[in-house]
Amino acid sequence: MIERRPMIAGNWKMYTDIFESVNLVKAVSAGLRGDEEADVLVAPPFTNLSVVKPFAENARILLGAQNMHWEGSGAFTGEVSGSMLRAAGCTHVILGHSERRHIFGESDADVNRKVEAAAKSGLIPILCIGETLEEREAGRTFEVIAGQLAGSLAAYTAERDLPAETIVAYEPVWAIGTGRTATPAQAQEVHRSIRRWLGERFGEKISEHTRILYGGSVKPDNISALMSEQDIDGALVGGASLKAESFLGIVQFRKKG
Ligand code: PGA
Repeated sequence: MIERRPMIAGNWKMYTDIFESVNLVKAVSAGLRGDEEADVLVAPPFTNLSVVKPFAENARILLGAQNMHWEGSGAFTGEVSGSMLRAAGCTHVILGHSERRHIFGESDADVNRKVEAAAKSGLIPILCIGETLEEREAGRTFEVIAGQLAGSLAAYTAERDLPAETIVAYEPVWAIGTGRTATPAQAQEVHRSIRRWLGERFGEKISEHTRILYGGSVKPDNISALMSEQDIDGALVGGASLKAESFLGIVQFRKKG
């Protein structure tokens, strides 16, 4: 069986100003022991990326952005491109987060363009997918997930491999910021189906190597159970990533108990 190195990623959303971001990354870096069994990533707001970068780099914390535009440059007021994120020190970019899809109307086609543009700029995409409560209750979870994967990765086929190291984040919309986590078994079931989809589309090797993160009310006290599932390779954490103590409690999940 292939060993996939876990990743714990903190999505700071539209929280923290420059000073708060610096304090948070410093506190996280001070609490890392250096023997963590996971890659650690933080995704601050755009304005704070370059000030967070040196602190993150010193602590080997990866830096991600929360969104980007698919064009490289141009008259797109209010948008930020992949090359700008690279220059600000990002290695990763979160794409298609459910808040982008539901509040800002991003479609799978938009996300697909962003995934392509991210890879072209040398950023590793963290592609988010997930069903709403209504879709789950209607028994449509797998259909929705497969549709989002097909639409958001439409540019890639068996002949054109997924960009190297692409990460998928399964975030059931009903679990985000609600305190209602998917049970480890519920999450595992969907993660397994995502891996199966990747295998059918891109072959076993890519499917086995792709990290699939779970997101939605992840906390220090539920991470260990989630991480014990075979196809859960880490977490995308919102609320609990805004306090160093709780984020570190998640990052150091294997050290507990
Ligand atoms: P949450 O957010 O951990 O606050 O539920 C997760 C996310 O939106 O990525």
